[in-house]
Amino acid sequence: MSVREVIVPLKALPAPRDTLARPLRDLRISVMDRCNFRCPYCMPRETYNEKYRFLGSHERLSFDEIVRLARLFVQLGVRKLRLTGGEPLLRANLADLIGDLTAIPGVEDVALTTNGVLLARYASELKAAGLKRITVSLDSLDRDVFARMSGGFGGVDEVLDGIEHARRAELAPIKINAVVQRGVNDHTILDLLERFRGTGVIVRFIEYMDVGNRNHWRSELVVPSAELAAQIGRRWPLVGLEPEYRGEVARRYAFADGQGEVGFISSVSQPFCGDCSRVRMSSDGVVYTCLFATHGTSLRDALRGGASDDQLLEIIRALWLKRTDRYSEQRAALRNAAHDERKVEMFYIGG
Ligand code: GTP
Ligand code: 5AD
Ligand code: SF4
Ligand code: SF4
Repeated sequence: MSVREVIVPLKALPAPRDTLARPLRDLRISVMDRCNFRCPYCMPRETYNEKYRFLGSHERLSFDEIVRLARLFVQLGVRKLRLTGGEPLLRANLADLIGDLTAIPGVEDVALTTNGVLLARYASELKAAGLKRITVSLDSLDRDVFARMSGGFGGVDEVLDGIEHARRAELAPIKINAVVQRGVNDHTILDLLERFRGTGVIVRFIEYMDVGNRNHWRSELVVPSAELAAQIGRRWPLVGLEPEYRGEVARRYAFADGQGEVGFISSVSQPFCGDCSRVRMSSDGVVYTCLFATHGTSLRDALRGGASDDQLLEIIRALWLKRTDRYSEQRAALRNAAHDERKVEMFYIGG
């Protein structure tokens, strides 16, 4: 749709529902396509080296542009914002953006996903700007396994130090996301739990997913969450918990001995598309209605082309109304060369 075709003023729009009656609730904003890690399952070094062209700073949305768009998403039903990357803390002055986003009326939750290396430097600044909670990616405490999974960058101690700074800054709850790959880190998951049980930090295990086109995903590398839960339950009995909100991505279990909880994000073995209310925006303002999308819509082009708020609202609304995505439920059927080659990459739209 061209911006000029839209002429109807749209002040009091009803919140749109997609073709599967799913509302739009959760906007995930990537603020930076660069990262200081090279996790092979996300940014393999063979592709993301000095020859790779990342976005230029003028190509990325400015903070004012992000805030303007976020306000419009909120008008259409969004209540939760998550900042992602690449590594979001590589974006200069990120706390300023957080301050503006947390001040938008209607926003109920603002979170940030980071690899944790820069948290020691920024945790208190982020908290002061209004951030309440944080999610840190940490795949293993074993130094060799960590190095293998981060592409040789960063270190366990730096990440643990970052988590400690987040704790002292009272960012809460702190969640840990660990991607599990068979034969790579699945033998280290109990250590990770042992370290964080009883501390209030919530560990969540993510099934390795076939996001993007460059990570050489194979189903044999996926460890189904049921297998992990059984392994964990033998050591520390688990009790199922109710979701905290509709459409929660993680399935949660409490340790029966009262030492906290553990979560499983099982997009491969137990897809959760039915309640998916998430939209993702890349750092150059392209919107994707699925993590596995092959096409996006540039709001930046419309915005920099002079579109009014009403026109932008109508673009987003139309996009959501026609949304049909449920990739994880259709994975087997959609995993063909034509779809696979064009999928958007994780570091570009965030997790
Ligand atoms: P909370 O708000 O803390 O519950 O977190 P969240 O549900 O927003 O989860 P988070 O952003 O920490 O996501 C964890 C991981 O789950 C992501 O990095 C992805 O790997 C995966 N994930 C999140 N959303 C989706 C989704 O819509 N589809 C799929 N397939 N995976 C997702
Ligand atoms: N499968 C599952 N999770 C992934 N992440 C990145 N790539 C993948 C993948 N292929 C995770 C990161 C981080 C979050 C942003 O997404 O480890 O926790
Ligand atoms: Fe960076 Fe996260 Fe991707 Fe690893 S998974 S390369 S930390 S964006
Ligand atoms: Fe949502 Fe797509 Fe993930 Fe399904 S696969 S839960 S539609 S982002």
